[in-house]
Amino acid sequence: MGNYTFFNDFEPFVTKYENFDALGFPEDHPGRSKSDTYYLNSDSLLRTHTSAHEVECFQTSKTAGYLISADVYRRDEIDKTHYPVFHQMEGARIWKKSDFSSQEELINQLEKDIESLPKTNMIVEDPNPPFHEERNPKQDHMTDRETDLVAQHLKRTIEILVSQVFQTDEPLRVRWVEAYFPWTAPSWEIEVWWENEWLECCGCGVVRKPVLDTSGLDDTIGWAFGVGLDRLAMLLFGIPDIRLFWTLDPRFKSQFMEGQISKFKPYSKYPGTMRDVSYWINEDRSIHENDLMEIVRNTAGDLVESVKLIDEFVQPKTGRKSQCYRIHYQSMERSLTNEEINRYNDEVRDTLVKDFGLELR
Ligand code: PHE
Repeated sequence: MGNYTFFNDFEPFVTKYENFDALGFPEDHPGRSKSDTYYLNSDSLLRTHTSAHEVECFQTSKTAGYLISADVYRRDEIDKTHYPVFHQMEGARIWKKSDFSSQEELINQLEKDIESLPKTNMIVEDPNPPFHEERNPKQDHMTDRETDLVAQHLKRTIEILVSQVFQTDEPLRVRWVEAYFPWTAPSWEIEVWWENEWLECCGCGVVRKPVLDTSGLDDTIGWAFGVGLDRLAMLLFGIPDIRLFWTLDPRFKSQFMEGQISKFKPYSKYPGTMRDVSYWINEDRSIHENDLMEIVRNTAGDLVESVKLIDEFVQPKTGRKSQCYRIHYQSMERSLTNEEINRYNDEVRDTLVKDFGLELR
């Protein structure tokens, strides 16, 4: 897919110029306001998007493409998909006209680059023309054909990205809609049909000339995109609330492994407590682990999150065997009181003695 340089270590503080001015945001754009953006002072702020680094990356990237991943910050509503800090990945790809001896050669290269992209088996709806004079205008410095080809390369690349993220048995459905960003023209958003709704996934477009000029890339054409990573991860892993990404609870992190997509298994938000039950095994009457499980289930039902053998031990002299199980009491709906848990645990212990003749330790 071509050569992309990764930029993953940018500090989150940027200037107002980098975040807004260099990208052509109008003076009165709502994104600039103190109610939307975290300002450090009148000139510096916490980046609201990875696009704040576009100019710097265009200036320094040694390859035709680059990718930025970073935390971004916005003052926003509070709900299960919004958090004041989230993550974006930005990507861009350029073609320098001076690398080609003629316009024809540039066009040939663009066609070849599009052809060489891996194919996907998605169902793609793209009902709009490559650009539209009023709704989604192209830029004057690019020909119709250049605009069309850069757009095609961009759209196919994003489709590949989306197809790799959303791995489904049936072909994935996506659609392209027209969009507006101050630093791209024309611009689009890709939407993915996921669990019976269209989800906005990625904003993108053909980079505007002033941004490229500022980056020292005059006579260059190219595209850029930005995706929200937290939203994607929530969909993929079935994570119901964005706040979970910030929990220190090991029950969250331990569910995920690098390189694997697994579904999140919810656990209780309420605190739990452990009780250990240890006993000597009666030689004449054995107890199967499932017997213990059943006693616990019959006694405390769904208030028990887990029962695990934590210690087993044979006394050298007598040869008697002892076991210790740890019962983790935790409700999915409420906090449990100590008295309540003690009551359940005493009942478990009593049943072990009564039904299995065990000697508790
Ligand atoms: N920065 C835009 C956003 O946060 C996404 C984007 C990136 C759009 C690059 C166009 C080009 O929504």
